[in-house]
Amino acid sequence: MISPFTYFPGAGRGFQRLVSNCWLLCLFLLSLASVGHAEPSAANNAEVEMGRKIYMEGMRPSGESLKGMRQSSVQVEGATAACETCHRRSGMGSLEGNIVVMPITGRFLFATAENRPLALVDPREAKNVTRAHAPYNDESLGKAIREGINVSGAKMSPLMPQYALTDVEIKAVSSYLKQLSSDLSPGVGESSLRFATIVTPGVDPQKSKVMEDMMRRAFEQRNASQQTYSGRMRSPLDLLPRTLRNWELTVWVLEGAPETWAAQLAEKYRSEPVFAVISGVSTTTWAPVHNFCQQEKLPCMFPSVALPPVETGYYPLYFSRGVTLEAEVLAKHLRSEDKSVPKRLVQFYRDDEVGRGAAKALTDALKDFDIKIENRALDDKDLAHLKNTLKDISSKDAVMLWLQSADLTAVSKAAPKQVPAVAYVSGFLAAENYSFISKAWKPNVRVVYPYELGAKREKNQQMMKGWLKTWQLPLVDEAFQSEVFFNVLFLTDLSSQMLDNLFRDHLIERAEDMLSFGSNVSAYPFLGLSRGQRFASKGAYIARFGKDGKLGADSEWLVP
Ligand code: HEC
Repeated sequence: MISPFTYFPGAGRGFQRLVSNCWLLCLFLLSLASVGHAEPSAANNAEVEMGRKIYMEGMRPSGESLKGMRQSSVQVEGATAACETCHRRSGMGSLEGNIVVMPITGRFLFATAENRPLALVDPREAKNVTRAHAPYNDESLGKAIREGINVSGAKMSPLMPQYALTDVEIKAVSSYLKQLSSDLSPGVGESSLRFATIVTPGVDPQKSKVMEDMMRRAFEQRNASQQTYSGRMRSPLDLLPRTLRNWELTVWVLEGAPETWAAQLAEKYRSEPVFAVISGVSTTTWAPVHNFCQQEKLPCMFPSVALPPVETGYYPLYFSRGVTLEAEVLAKHLRSEDKSVPKRLVQFYRDDEVGRGAAKALTDALKDFDIKIENRALDDKDLAHLKNTLKDISSKDAVMLWLQSADLTAVSKAAPKQVPAVAYVSGFLAAENYSFISKAWKPNVRVVYPYELGAKREKNQQMMKGWLKTWQLPLVDEAFQSEVFFNVLFLTDLSSQMLDNLFRDHLIERAEDMLSFGSNVSAYPFLGLSRGQRFASKGAYIARFGKDGKLGADSEWLVP
C-alpha cells in the first residue's frame, strides 16, 4: 500500500506560503491522501492481461478486434480503437486538439474526494487540472465505456467511442486500470528524484566534464528554486501542490568493450535506480545503452551520440539519426546535383562502429546512383601513413571525411596539394572544429551540417551562452553543449507539468507532446516528435565557408 503521504508529503512546506490562494487551498485539501490499490494476485493476473489486450492492443479475449462506435456505426477498430490511442500507455490521458482526454488510471477513476490525485490536463493552461467526480465503480465504468455517459450522468464528448463490451471485459479493463501507473516509477524517492547521465569510453574528458558541470549546475539551480517561493515570478504551474523533490544526478562512466556495458549498466542501476537517463555522450556505439534503456523501461532522453541504433524503441529518444541522417542528406543533395557530381566518391572513415556505420549508410543511400564509391577505412597505422592513402585523390574526385577533429587534422596535414573537386565533412563528427581545413581546401569543403546556421542559430544559443557566462562554465563545443542545455530545461518543464505523476511512460508521452512547443534553445532549427517518432530533428544543410570564414547554408534544409 502507498502511504497517504506518498504523493504530497512536502505539500505543507509550500502550502504555508500559498494560503491566500483559495482554489489552491481546496486542491491541497483534496489531495492530501492518495488512492490505495489492490495488490496483484495470481488470479488477478489473467484478468489484468485480458484488460491489457483491450486497452493496449484493441483485442478482445475472443480474439476479435475491438470496435468503437459513434452514433451506432463503427468508427474505430482494432489498434485505433484501443484505449491507449487516446488515454496513452500510462493511462494519464492526453490532449487531442482542444479536447481533453481524461486520465483513467485507478488512482483517478476510483478516487474519493479525500484521496483524489491531481493531474494537469492541459499544459497550455496551468489551472486546467483534473476535476473532482464521484468515484467510479465497475457499473459506472461500464456505462461510460458502453454508453458514453460518465459517472456524473453527463454525456461525454463524442471523441470517446462507445464499446459493446461484456461484463467480464469491463471487469478486466477495470482491473487493468487499477494497477496501471499505480506505483511511482523507480528512481522516485520520498524527497528525491534521481537521474543518470552516461559517458562511454573514448569521449574527450573535456566534453564529459563540461556536460557533468552543466548538469550539476542546472540541477542545483532547479533544486534551489523549488525551495523558495518568494522573490521571483513563477509560472502558475509551480504553484500547484506537489511534493518537493530534490533532483539528484549520478554519472555512469562505462569502461572497456561495448560487450561488457550491459553488465556495468545493470550493476549501476541495481545499486542506484534512476527515473530517467538525461543526455549522455558517446563517440562510438550507443547500442548497448539503447538496449538497456528499452529493457528496463527507462527513458533515455536525447543523448549526444553520432550513431543511434536504426531500430527504434519506446524509451530511447534522440536528437537525430546522427551520421546516418547525414549520409542520407548528402545522397539527396548529390542526386539533386546530378550532372555536376564527380564520378568517384572516396569515403575516409575510422574503422570503428561509427565510421563503418556512416560509410555503409552513404553507400546504401547512393545505390543505383551513377557514382563510383570507394571506401578507405583507417586505423592508427593508416593515419600515420596518410600520404599514401591520399595520394591518388585528384581534382576530379569527391571525398567524404567521416572523421573526428583529431583525424581531420591528420588528414589535412597529409593532404596533397592537389585539391579534390569537393570534400564533404560530417558536421556531427567534426564537432564544430574546422580549424583543420587548409587554405587551399577551404573553398572546396562542404559540411553536411545538421544544425541551424546564421542569425537564427545565434538567437537560439544566446540563452545558453548567457547562462554559461553567469556560472563561469566554458564553451568548448557549442552544438554539444546546447544539447545538454536543452535537455535540462526541457526536463524542468516536463517534470513541472507532471506534478506528482512521476511515471516513466508519462514522461515519454509528455516529451512527445511537448517537444515542439517549448522554446528551442538547441542548435537544431526545429525539434518535434509525433507519436512513436524517436528522432527529433530530421534534416541537415549542405554548408560552405563564406568569405568571412563563417559557415553558411549552401542548400536549403534537406530532409531525406
Ligand atoms: C478516440 C479517443 C478515445 C479512445 C480510443 C478512448 N477514449 Fe475514453 N475518453 C476519451 C475522451 C475525449 C474522454 C473525455 C470525454 C468527456 O469527458 O467528455 C474520455 C473519457 C473516458 C472516461 C471517463 C473519465 C472520467 O473522468 O469521467 C473513461 C472511463 C474512459 N474514457 C475509458 C476508456 C476506455 C476503457 C477506452 C478503451 C476501451 C477508451 N476510453 C478509449 C477519448 C477516448
